[in-house]
Amino acid sequence: MATNNKDNQWKVDFPIQQLDATQVSRRDFAKFLCLVSGGLAVGSGYVAAKANFFPAEKVQGEHFVCKKDELPQGGTKSFVIPGSTIPYVLIRTEKDDFRAYEQKCTHLSCAVFYMPKSGKIECPCHNGWFDALTGEVLAGPPPRPLPRLDVIFKGDDIYVREFETSPKTL
Ligand code: FES
Repeated sequence: MATNNKDNQWKVDFPIQQLDATQVSRRDFAKFLCLVSGGLAVGSGYVAAKANFFPAEKVQGEHFVCKKDELPQGGTKSFVIPGSTIPYVLIRTEKDDFRAYEQKCTHLSCAVFYMPKSGKIECPCHNGWFDALTGEVLAGPPPRPLPRLDVIFKGDDIYVREFETSPKTL
């Protein structure tokens, strides 16, 4: 008998019926949905506002990325410039063109990826597509081209610097 009282002590401490604990009312569920939706909307708005209203920092000087033979045709190399947190990607196309872009989509900052043999860069978040030679938007919601860096060679070393060259002269 004493064991039975001890076993049931939790019912006194937590006087909640199992049905009450597991059943979620429509009102509670709607509150939860509103909270989650509101949080996502605020987060997306912050990312969009930051991308649109705060100018990107300029890259100062030239920065070594890798040796030319470290990057096969159709390959990519992700890198960060010292002193910055912006992710970049260096692309060597199958036709031996070298391009460097920010690896952040201009829509909501998802990481973008070069699709080998397609000549395109994909953003998998919302099916955004960019031209791998120019960074221009080909399809999807991205509002602007990918920010680009100039790629320069010093012997077999590949460097990047702030983009100044007109794409038409390449
Ligand atoms: S974040 Fe790239 S398409 Fe939306």
